[in-house]
Amino acid sequence: MGTTVEKNTGERLPVEIAGIRFQNPVMTASGTFGYGSEFAPYTDLNRLGAVVVKGLSLKPRQGNPGPRIVETPCGMLNAIGLQNVGVEAFIKEKLPYLRKYSTRVIANIFGETMEDYSEVARMLDGVEGVAALEVNISCPNVKKGGIVFGTDPFEAAKVVMAVKKSTRLPVITKLSPNVTDIKVMVRAVEDAGSDAVSIINTLTGMVVDVEKRRPALATVTGGLSGPAIRPVAVRMVWEARKVARTPIIGVGGIMEAKDALEFIIAGATAVQVGTASFIDPNAAVKVAEGIAEYVERHGTTVSKLVGSLEV
Ligand SMILES: Cc1cc2nc3c(=O)[nH]c(=O)nc-3n(C[C@H](O)[C@H](O)[C@H](O)COP(=O)(O)O)c2cc1C
Repeated sequence: MGTTVEKNTGERLPVEIAGIRFQNPVMTASGTFGYGSEFAPYTDLNRLGAVVVKGLSLKPRQGNPGPRIVETPCGMLNAIGLQNVGVEAFIKEKLPYLRKYSTRVIANIFGETMEDYSEVARMLDGVEGVAALEVNISCPNVKKGGIVFGTDPFEAAKVVMAVKKSTRLPVITKLSPNVTDIKVMVRAVEDAGSDAVSIINTLTGMVVDVEKRRPALATVTGGLSGPAIRPVAVRMVWEARKVARTPIIGVGGIMEAKDALEFIIAGATAVQVGTASFIDPNAAVKVAEGIAEYVERHGTTVSKLVGSLEV
């Protein structure tokens, strides 16, 4: 479970996940913050708990054809299709920039096959500046891999085992909400050696353009994110907490500190801010500031708040 150093009032915010200390519990959600550098002119990366970078694959990917984003009530539907520079270019071209910051870097990874996952994990093993891997087994927007691994506990466990064999880095597994019972998935990935879980990725959704009688997205369906999904995400964190032996990172619709605190009180050791960064590139830092104000005002620490929900 997440613990924190609580020696003085300045130490109310740090949390620990899989043996790594984060200066505060607020991370950026993968795919919503590029590789960090894109947001650096607008926010202070050094004030984040961690930067989680866009999902990395073995080879560069173009992603899906457009339209691949559509606005929805209180959210958005996307089908980017995991466009990224590839793990090699990330290490050579993107990571050196991030090393200039004291903030932890978490590499989000994915593959179409077990071998892909292993290989990407192996390439990032021992690379300076990468604190942990977040394994995306839950992307609904790709034809191969993704959702299949994320909704079948047996397949999910196989991916985690393959990654664990290929790296000494802590492994965080990012779970899909598109399942009946999140607890089954939590148990499966933990038994396979996962060191923490991120809950949730986007919910599969669809928007129809009624004038054209066509789907709004080229891929027909996409992943729903933003405040619309927050109550679902909080509920899943709370359910996961009942069985989880490892820390939970809560993600889904966090717009402000109050939202992040919902996740923490429900059982998350840390949180990720995603869609909110598209509206305000400084959103994640503001969430961290708001949490700092809350713990100060309540004379408590983040780690004491984790799972403090009274039902
Ligand atoms: C445009 C976009 C791209 C995303 N790309 C990834 C990705 O590459 N890997 C991943 O694990 N999650 C990805 N996600 C999911 C987010 O990290 C997050 O789990 C989800 O959006 C819910 O959080 P939010 O409501 O705060 O956005 C993406 C989300 C969006 C909106």
